[in-house]
Amino acid sequence: MRSSYCGLLDTTFLDQEVTLCGWVDRRRDHGGVIFIDLRDREGIVQIVCDPDSGEHFTTADGVRGEFVLKICGRVRARSSETINPQMKTGEIEVYATEVEILNASDTPPFQLDEHTKVGEEVRLLHRFLDLRRPEMQSHLYFRSKVTSAIRNFLDDSGFLDIETPILTRATPEGARDYLVPSRTHEGKFFALPQSPQLFKQLLMVSGFDRYYQVAKCFRDEDLRADRQPEFTQIDIEASFVSDTEIMTIAEDMISQLFSSLHKVELGTFPVMTHAEAMHRFGSDKPDLRIPLELVEIKDLMKDVDFKVFSAPANDPDGRVTALKVPGGNSLSRKKIDAYTKFVSIYGARGLAYIKVNDKTDIEEGLQSPIVKFLPNDVRQQLLDTLQAEDGDLIFFGADKGKIVSEALGALRCKLGADLDLYTCEWAPLWVVDFPMFEKTDSGSWTPLHHPFTQPSCSVDELRADPGAALSKAYDMVLNGTELGGGSLRIHDGAMQQAVFEVLNINEEEQQEKFGFLIEALKYGCPPHAGLAFGLDRLIMLMVGAASIRDVIAFPKTQSAQCLMTDAPGLVDSKQLRELNIRLREKTKSEKPKSEES
Ligand code: AMO
Ligand code: AMP
Repeated sequence: MRSSYCGLLDTTFLDQEVTLCGWVDRRRDHGGVIFIDLRDREGIVQIVCDPDSGEHFTTADGVRGEFVLKICGRVRARSSETINPQMKTGEIEVYATEVEILNASDTPPFQLDEHTKVGEEVRLLHRFLDLRRPEMQSHLYFRSKVTSAIRNFLDDSGFLDIETPILTRATPEGARDYLVPSRTHEGKFFALPQSPQLFKQLLMVSGFDRYYQVAKCFRDEDLRADRQPEFTQIDIEASFVSDTEIMTIAEDMISQLFSSLHKVELGTFPVMTHAEAMHRFGSDKPDLRIPLELVEIKDLMKDVDFKVFSAPANDPDGRVTALKVPGGNSLSRKKIDAYTKFVSIYGARGLAYIKVNDKTDIEEGLQSPIVKFLPNDVRQQLLDTLQAEDGDLIFFGADKGKIVSEALGALRCKLGADLDLYTCEWAPLWVVDFPMFEKTDSGSWTPLHHPFTQPSCSVDELRADPGAALSKAYDMVLNGTELGGGSLRIHDGAMQQAVFEVLNINEEEQQEKFGFLIEALKYGCPPHAGLAFGLDRLIMLMVGAASIRDVIAFPKTQSAQCLMTDAPGLVDSKQLRELNIRLREKTKSEKPKSEES
């Protein structure tokens, strides 16, 4: 139907007859001449219709925003004063000889260039229109380029693309499952996969050696800007590889992607232990673009006459930490109060600070609500340890280690963004040597990754002190976002048993949940390792979007709904009966106040 895309026309087409198809972005009437900006997926070009074109002029006069047109015309140069350097096609225009309306459009619920004014809800409700915006078009175009580049890389590296089931059993990745009732097996449910983890391990047992999949995963968890209930992983597994070998493959894949699509060389990724990341940055996904670091001052504060500091300093689980902000002295009281409120989200009970006005005057040169509690020698050692300079601001966190790390780790990132402290555009790294388990609030152990991760120690050491065990797990982090993660897997039945025991998963539950995996481990399972990348997060970072919703064609809202299709939706009673499901009446105490009669 068309001879060219609108957005691809330029001076090389001068004097050529072209046929274009697209949507009316704008229509302007300039004293008898009609200008139409015609838009397709490649961009916009200006169409000119003058009254000499007879019936076509009348047709052009009648078109409105988002009408679908077919235009025949001749490409001509714009006069020098009408050249638009902002437009890719700004040096030319198309003089229309034929205008055909392929379809009319109702007045759209929002102007595409005014999307910021209408809010995300309206955009998501009419996503098919929102996706016409050039920004969304370019995000999805880029996404397609990324998946294609990844597929090429993995195909060339000998990985096989194998699909795994969507209707399956629960895979433990730490979130709630989405369940699908079975009609043919009364009272039984499928779970949608949180990841293809167990299947890809079984494919290794089956000898496929190198597997990948662009896999849909489903997790019913609290949503944030970088989480969706349904998201896509680039899922990878290989046999007979060490953890460092699979990390190298993954690093090469991401580096090539940045090199080919962004013309950026990421260099060799630094490798940092989990302990070091928590110690220096208060996070297992540190944003290394920000030059601020947490400095431990526990020893210094053991004997001070300020309980807020001395109590955690003497608690083995406590942490007392300083965060120096060079030049931060100019932050107002109001700003500091706002940061104090910010850290309270993470459970911090306060945010002590010292402004260094004159470091040579230890008595009067420090401005702070707490400095009076610190003897002069402690003040001096503090300034020395932090290499503080006049004009610096020092924040403090003192509490249980977990709270201090989370609060000051988050504060560090917020300061980095607020004060624009970034030292580079891209900062990738690997975080390794994660603890195998962490304690839940109820005191039991839970895996930090998943229970199929190989511990770094022996079976006996694991049983003796699960809390001390590290794992052969690795996360790839980019600009403070966990891009992907994986591990060397357990391929030995005795080790898998020991992990289940630590996790208090008894024999019956093991059989019920993962009997097939335990069985497979008995039949010559090769050593294997793998990892999975969050594709949506990768695209979000690469295009600089604020949310993964902006790089997914049809995303869910923060409350896990699709506004456009109104999913999840009600089902009729006949369907429920077929599935042997009866909806329970809510008790009075469960009903929201507004529903109570
Ligand atoms: P993990 O649970 O770390 O590992 O997930 C891997 C990557 O998937 C992305 N991701 C998400 N993206 C969007 N929305 C979500 N709700 C969401 N949850 C996770 C993240 C994360 O790094 N089976 C293991 C991988 C392995 O061991 O091979 C797994 O799923 O970018
Ligand atoms: P208070 O003694 O509670 O008035 O606190 C004195 C100062 O210490 C205030 O600036 C508080 O913000 C700060 N502060 C209180 N608790 C903590 C804490 N756990 N960590 C860091 N600073 C704190």
